[in-house]
Amino acid sequence: MSDRATSFHIPRLHLLKFEARRTPATASSNGLFSLSNKTVVITGGGRGLGITLARAVLEAGGHVACLDILPEPAPAEWLALQKVAHASEGLRLSYRRVDVTDEGALATAFDEIDAEDSGAPLFGCIACAGVQQKIPALEYPQADFERIQRVNVTGAFLTAKHAARIMVGNGVCGSIVLVASMSGQIANRGLTCTAYNASKAAVQQMCRSLAQEWGAYGIRVNTLSPGYIRTSMTDELLSTAPKLEGIWMAGALLGRLGTPDDFKAPAVFLLADGSSFMTGADLRVDGGHCASA
Ligand SMILES: NC(=O)c1ccc[n+]([C@@H]2O[C@H](COP(=O)([O-])OP(=O)(O)OC[C@H]3O[C@@H](n4cnc5c(N)ncnc54)[C@H](O)[C@@H]3O)[C@@H](O)[C@H]2O)c1
Repeated sequence: MSDRATSFHIPRLHLLKFEARRTPATASSNGLFSLSNKTVVITGGGRGLGITLARAVLEAGGHVACLDILPEPAPAEWLALQKVAHASEGLRLSYRRVDVTDEGALATAFDEIDAEDSGAPLFGCIACAGVQQKIPALEYPQADFERIQRVNVTGAFLTAKHAARIMVGNGVCGSIVLVASMSGQIANRGLTCTAYNASKAAVQQMCRSLAQEWGAYGIRVNTLSPGYIRTSMTDELLSTAPKLEGIWMAGALLGRLGTPDDFKAPAVFLLADGSSFMTGADLRVDGGHCASA
């Protein structure tokens, strides 16, 4: 691993520069949701929620670099993304196979993306890579518990760390979005997912802690906490326990589960200048699930 990946010293001069740049958002409403001339890294961008959020960033005018452990992104969704990027002239879209728990590989990917900058510096990231596993706590193997923490917590931390490293180095006051879950605040009925729930609570607390450290550089850090969404992750859970859907629907105040599209506007909002006074916060988008017992 390079020295650059491990050392993280920021000179005082930078802090002063950031001090002057932490200004309120004054753009028009459209501008407040624009990601024009900005590059955003999205982990877990190979499928599911991540690839949908990649589309949202492109549609908001941003350049996108997707990272995922999958060898290739989901073909149909990727084709659709390419069409959006081509239709909006000059928008860059890239895909790299990276394991978010491998700091060396992650640091290299961020450095490459930074080096590609042509007037659209790295402005933020969405740490969306995550894994889930349903096992009763009494039987939960240590190795599996630790794997969930490694991907969901360490992976999100390393993603945020290297995004911030590049932004601080470039003097960019950007925005980091960590995808947590409503499961960071509640224990889901019918689900034996203690490792996952603990990991998402850790992500929410990590957000507050990073926001506290990086506010001095003008970097904002927030969590986006979805409720139930139909993706490969939940399809897998439902295939082993089909009765779960009924339990989930009982708490669905809007009468439906979420779709990845429901999170496009919240993610763009958290990245863009419209949320410029928001940091260390959690945006829960759960169709009302947590509002009623
Ligand atoms: N689906 C839901 O109901 C739901 C609810 C709340 C939160 N979330 C969160 O949303 C995020 C996306 O989940 P999803 O539903 O799209 O699931 P998904 O399984 O479709 O997507 C997760 C992605 O993360 C990637 N990934 C896993 N391990 C990785 C690693 N070590 N390095 C790089 N990439 C890795 C996977 O390959 C996959 O593309 C996750 O963080 C998940 O916890 C999902």
